Amino acid sequence: MERIIIEGGYPLKGTITIGGAKNSAVALIPASLLADGVSTISNVPNITDRDALFDIVKLLNCDIEQDGKVIKIDTTNLKNTLITQELSVRLRASYYFMGVLLSKYKHVEIYFPGGCNIGSRPIDLHLKGFKALGTKVTKRGHKYTLDAEHLKGAEITLDFASVGATINIMYAAVMAEGRTIIHNAAKEVEIINIMDFLNKMGAKISGAGTDTITIDGVSKLHGAEIEVIPDRIESGTYILMGALLGDNLKIEGIIPEHNGSLFAKLDAMGVKYTLGSNYAIMNKSENLKPVEIVTEGYPGFPTDLNQPMSVLLTQAEGVSKITETIYENRIGHYPHLINMGAKVEINDRTATIKGKTELVGTKINATDLRGGAALILAGLIAKGTTSIYDIDYILRGYENIIHKLSNVGAKIKIEEI
Ligand code: UD1
Repeated sequence: MERIIIEGGYPLKGTITIGGAKNSAVALIPASLLADGVSTISNVPNITDRDALFDIVKLLNCDIEQDGKVIKIDTTNLKNTLITQELSVRLRASYYFMGVLLSKYKHVEIYFPGGCNIGSRPIDLHLKGFKALGTKVTKRGHKYTLDAEHLKGAEITLDFASVGATINIMYAAVMAEGRTIIHNAAKEVEIINIMDFLNKMGAKISGAGTDTITIDGVSKLHGAEIEVIPDRIESGTYILMGALLGDNLKIEGIIPEHNGSLFAKLDAMGVKYTLGSNYAIMNKSENLKPVEIVTEGYPGFPTDLNQPMSVLLTQAEGVSKITETIYENRIGHYPHLINMGAKVEINDRTATIKGKTELVGTKINATDLRGGAALILAGLIAKGTTSIYDIDYILRGYENIIHKLSNVGAKIKIEEI
């Protein structure tokens, strides 16, 4: 087991380079199995969720070649076998093998996916979509068996604009007969990255990034190349650190408009920063104003930045509120923040944060990926030493976070316990 130790209060200066988007990469890796032959994915982030997917890809008898951030996946010897519970629970994105294997083999055996404990996270919308395309779903305990004689395009309206269901239905429909239209699709920019990859493989998909996606089925797909887009949640997390501790901290390799809703809130708070075409330069700002935030699907304020943002709000002068609309349980980090000196009240899905409060280092536990990142932010501004346990959650989604932060002046290290 490992823990992260932080000595708080040091300014951050220099450059942090942003990696590829976790939520794109974890969908693009399974998508490569839709093609016959070799696909190349570049800018793949070095996170443990990637390694968990590699283990599933290897179980399915595909070859993976890795050269730094570039991976090649060869599906020549692909074998459709049961994806064990041990593998599927290692991450949320294992559910993408449902759509992919259904598309290719019309038969899938897999267990319910894992992922952070931030809410109940059912997969009913994915299954409803598969059923609309002609799939029979059988559930025994946590195991799902999907069978289809023939997949046929359909019009599918999602009850909620789910990111996972939108992508999974695209996978299932890409080689179905005829046209599929997904209404109320999620509009996240990662879905455009996925559409581009599939279209390079020979798919006929349009509309990703809007709430209506049209998929005209093709008979087969060939290997293709794609680059993972920058991670807007990783960049958002470091942008928030820059607002708290930046001394001309440069966050490089970003697409600023992907963080548009975050910058709008930072403007309202009075945070000082400069934007370039692919970077932001952040400075610690005094007299921050409180704000009210409601999380939404893209282009609204991302649920994944709710918890990191809450730490900045502890430093605003007055009462701020964050209301979570996507997950019912993105609050695991608050008891720890309160322990460190934050004044927070939780009422249903709204956190009311009274600032400005000094935070003091202590021993705390990461409870989920983004909550863990929030605790790193808290440790960086806290007086004294913060020790964070259960850090596996953080390493699932933030590549080389210790290295990136020490490089810009943070006193942070990882140690074996
Ligand atoms: C993805 C991201 C996650 C991000 C989230 C919202 C990945 C691997 N994870 O998660 O980082 O926080 O989008 O941007 O890309 N829902 C249902 N039934 C379903 C599917 C979803 O009720 O079949 C509900 C969920 O419980 C949740 C909401 O819809 O309340 C949003 O879920 P969804 O957008 O699907 O998120 P994920 O794909 O799990």
